[in-house]
Amino acid sequence: METVAVNLGERSYSIHVGAGLLARTGELLRQVARGDKVTVVTNPTVERLYFAALESSLKRSGFKVASVLLPDGEQHKNLESLSAVYDQLVRQRLDRQSTLVALGGGVIGDLAGFAAATFLRGIPYIQVPTTLLAQVDSSIGGKTGINHAQGKNLIGAFYQPRLVVIDVSVLQTLPKRELVAGMAEVVKYGIIGDPELFDLLEKNLDAILTLDEPLLTRVILSSCADKARVVEQDERESDLRAILNFGHTIGHALESFTGYERFLHGEAVAIGMVKAALISRAQGFCDERSLARIRTLISRAGLPAEMPPDIDPRGLVQSMELDKKSSEGKIKFICCTGVGATRFHWLSPEEIVTALASNQ
Ligand SMILES: NC(=O)c1ccc[n+]([C@@H]2O[C@H](COP(=O)([O-])OP(=O)(O)OC[C@H]3O[C@@H](n4cnc5c(N)ncnc54)[C@H](O)[C@@H]3O)[C@@H](O)[C@H]2O)c1
Ligand SMILES: [Zn+2]
Repeated sequence: METVAVNLGERSYSIHVGAGLLARTGELLRQVARGDKVTVVTNPTVERLYFAALESSLKRSGFKVASVLLPDGEQHKNLESLSAVYDQLVRQRLDRQSTLVALGGGVIGDLAGFAAATFLRGIPYIQVPTTLLAQVDSSIGGKTGINHAQGKNLIGAFYQPRLVVIDVSVLQTLPKRELVAGMAEVVKYGIIGDPELFDLLEKNLDAILTLDEPLLTRVILSSCADKARVVEQDERESDLRAILNFGHTIGHALESFTGYERFLHGEAVAIGMVKAALISRAQGFCDERSLARIRTLISRAGLPAEMPPDIDPRGLVQSMELDKKSSEGKIKFICCTGVGATRFHWLSPEEIVTALASNQ
């Protein structure tokens, strides 16, 4: 087992990464929990695969375990599911010494985290992420929340977990498409600040995608450490944390423009990262070789690297979020300056449309 510390003063916590860690969750939680009651929030897909192992580990360490099952899917990251969690917590008379456990992907993690942030004005919770995306991204940093019919993640809170337990072995059952989509965030950490991670991916991509556990542990550990370092400096996203959105300005627009049905998040971000690298090259920030390395790694991972021809660049730019625009209508864009560093640059919508329309 390897550990990364997230240093946030009294909100500090550990991220443990390793193969087979699900069976040690009880023991690890014991080190940080105050009470004995635990409620696990999960969905039927993950419950079937991993609840029994988690439950027996928690019970071995003396916890009293209950669970709430929410329907699987992003469309259920809503008030109705949240309300179902509250009902269960009230029924079980959970108090502020009790712990909520999020067992699942980012949907479960975000929702359970928000339930923990708000129930009794805040009870402890831990993350046991089971998708690659959740392991390297959503379980770390304390962004929690649910969707509103008018937009994603419109309701939420910053609320840090007490512990993150990452069992890399659970990725064995993750559908390949989900695994590959999660790799987009890993590639992102390489581009924005971790050239060693990028090298490691270039050298070992095939073994990583076939789930070599020692390599996976290294890659996930580095990603978590990279995110932790950014969150430590800017917990509530006043400025620096925005670099985690590299590739996301175009990625998010692509997801929303296609109604969240055509692309998984990581797929849209992969296209967004290649476009961001192309824009960075056009602005003179990124050299040709780095651009080629980024494009090649993304394609080799099995991620899309090009904007599909049927996407209208103008429509896409119109769907870019308003909060990213300045008073003159320019968009704050995260560029890369090669592999391993970024800078901000303000671009007009026209400049982005032009960049999107060309693959050069
Ligand atoms: N809080 C943050 O900082 C943050 C960051 C990025 C994304 N997110 C959020 O994360 C969500 C997406 O998360 P996701 O990509 O993990 O999707 P997800 O939670 O929907 O999981 C994807 C699918 O995989 C299944 N699954 C999970 N683990 C499995 C396993 N080990 N084996 C087999 N199947 C498994 C799930 O049941 C689901 O069907 C979005 O709601 C997004 O807004 C949050
Ligand atoms: Zn993302």
